[in-house]
Amino acid sequence: MYRTRIILIAAAWVACSTISFAAGDAAKGKEVFDQCSVCHNSDSTDQKIGPGLKGLFKRDKLASGKPVNEANVRAQINDGGNGMPAYKDILSDQEKDDVIAYLKTL
Ligand code: HEC
Repeated sequence: MYRTRIILIAAAWVACSTISFAAGDAAKGKEVFDQCSVCHNSDSTDQKIGPGLKGLFKRDKLASGKPVNEANVRAQINDGGNGMPAYKDILSDQEKDDVIAYLKTL
């Protein structure tokens, strides 16, 4: 009985920590995106200074020709290039997770 309770508590703890830390928060990511929106539309694919990001994660390829996936989008955010600033040291890992979660909703 005691053992079952410990296991239940452990399982609940794992569930909570997964929810609060592992995934990005799209609502917070929308705020992070304020600093991206000078160059990127979020509601269309029209070019501003950079490409419009609507439907980004539903596309096959980035402008660079690399497949659209979380790792490549994160690399683009970290490294920038071709007119985009590098956000490696500007955003925290959590902010990057959040903004990626937001990009997935576009
Ligand atoms: C000063 C303008 C500028 C800012 C600010 C900016 N970007 Fe960019 N971004 C660009 C340009 C220009 C490109 C195109 C680069 C290329 O063609 O290789 C780009 C490309 C991208 C791409 C790849 C799009 C594709 O279709 O290939 C993503 C994703 C992206 N930016 C996300 C972001 C995020 C998230 C932020 C904010 C944290 C941000 N950008 C801030 C200019 C900017």
